[in-house]
Amino acid sequence: MSNFNACDVLIIGSGGSGLSLALRLADHANILVLSKVALNSGSTYHAQGGISAVLDKNDSIESHIKDTLIAGAGLCDPEAVRVTVEQGKKNIEWLKEQGVEFTKNTSKNGDKSLHLNREGGHSHRRIVHTADATGKALSQTLTERAKAHPNIRLLENHNAIDLSTNKKEKNISLKIQGAYVLNTTTHKVKAISAKVVILATGGASKVYLYSTNPQISTGDGIALAWRAGCRVANMEFMQFHPTCLYHPKERSFLISEALRGEGGKLVLPDGTSFMQKYHENLELAPRDIVARAIDNEMKKNGIECVYLDISHKPADFIQHHFPTIYQQCLALDIDITKQPIPVVPAAHYTCGGVVTDLDAHTDIMGLYAIGEVACTGLHGANRMASNSLLECLVFAERAAVDILKKLPDTPPPPALKQWDESQVIESDEEIIVSHNWDELRRFMWDYVGIVRTNKRLKKAMSRLKLLKEDIAEHYANYRVTSDLLELRNLVIVAELIIRSAQMRKESRGLHYTKDYPETDNTTPPKNTILTPNKKASTH
Ligand code: FAD
Ligand code: SIN
Repeated sequence: MSNFNACDVLIIGSGGSGLSLALRLADHANILVLSKVALNSGSTYHAQGGISAVLDKNDSIESHIKDTLIAGAGLCDPEAVRVTVEQGKKNIEWLKEQGVEFTKNTSKNGDKSLHLNREGGHSHRRIVHTADATGKALSQTLTERAKAHPNIRLLENHNAIDLSTNKKEKNISLKIQGAYVLNTTTHKVKAISAKVVILATGGASKVYLYSTNPQISTGDGIALAWRAGCRVANMEFMQFHPTCLYHPKERSFLISEALRGEGGKLVLPDGTSFMQKYHENLELAPRDIVARAIDNEMKKNGIECVYLDISHKPADFIQHHFPTIYQQCLALDIDITKQPIPVVPAAHYTCGGVVTDLDAHTDIMGLYAIGEVACTGLHGANRMASNSLLECLVFAERAAVDILKKLPDTPPPPALKQWDESQVIESDEEIIVSHNWDELRRFMWDYVGIVRTNKRLKKAMSRLKLLKEDIAEHYANYRVTSDLLELRNLVIVAELIIRSAQMRKESRGLHYTKDYPETDNTTPPKNTILTPNKKASTH
């Protein structure tokens, strides 16, 4: 398997988007799926709350669309929103056919319909879930299905370094040819050619010091696409989840918004609630508002965290609905049936990403982007809870339809040039990489976080320029390692975030700056679109 060097379809990423695409294509093409570490290492596995879909008889497509547009603060693409929302029910059915078991209602009249959670921004109960471990159920089921399919090959510990295109040929449009991939077990770089390549690499929240995301979320797909020549949009809209567990032994564990959906209250250390000062929907206000409210209370009161209290609910209700959160907290000596949970906001979701159309095409022919790596227009300036797994599924399906249409007429790509390591040596300075990692993530947290200013952004940019030079030099001289590759990508992502934030001279959705605290309602809202080697534009 490790000498694999050509395929029809190369999918970079084995999360919800990558695996669902693989399964939809597998009867018609040979598929190679890469994961840079273990297969279930992406954000998908950690998803708690669930997947939004209109299933309740009192709910409607129009209502889901309206809620998504409100959360997106004027920047959603209405067509992307409609397409996604309309295909919700169908994709939940598809997951059930694959074998995903969702939590059902347990009413005495024998009702076996799916139980629906409620989350911030949603005006109805519409979150399909598997208790509080929806991502685990989804990942495990799709992984088993993919492993069993003869046309799907799954390669763990394979880190995509760069895409290969026909870039050298002048005056023709860019076309994908494959990718260079580091096998992190053998430390060898392989050239894999493919007719079609899909970026399904997840988000970039690890650019911040505190994040709910797993280690893999280093924005690789965004950086790969950018280096290859694709536009990237709306990177200033990084979402901070309001309630990440605050505990010295566990820094990335999410306390699902579904807890607030079931009545969890946010309080100060003395038990006083505070959300009434910020929004009429209290704890279920859109995420940006709740995260900023917590940030403000922490700074104003000089406290290290606030608390989320659900202990007023019956203990068996809490244990039944939130078994994972209950157990994880108990292991840290927090009994959530009796005491409030210490929480802080943390970087959670990348709303911006590689620009795609409604069939997941990027700017390069044959290169698609799906899932969190993509900017489809669904989320605008702020993603509504549980809309992202839905987006993964819907755009995987749309990409599959398009790929299957085109694949028969797509010629095989040329064999790729071998990776050249003749000019590099083994690094004896890995400490530089780890120091730079820490520095980058810390100044992004301090200067480009929940509340921004012109001065902080400028400071971040000047620190970034120095780091960038250091890392470029390291990359040019030393053999690649996973840490170096991730850092090289994070630096690009950080630069895209800072540049985008500097360009937005207003506060909107997730982007809040003290220098322009109001939303500019005098002109139509604009996306921030960055083009490689060209000046940035807004349109
Ligand atoms: P991921 O699932 O992150 O997978 C990315 C894959 O790409 C991984 O396999 C990784 O190894 C691979 N990869 C990355 N870079 C490379 C590379 N260079 N080479 C090779 N492989 C690479 N959303 C919801 O809708 N509902 C929820 O309830 C919910 N809860 C969440 C809870 C948590 C704690 C987190 C972190 C996120 C949550 N989200 C939720 C967001 C949602 O889970 C993600 O947006 C979604 O799962 C992303 O799926 P994906 O397929 O795009 O990427
Ligand atoms: C959560 O369960 O709070 C996460 C939901 C999401 O990010 O969509």
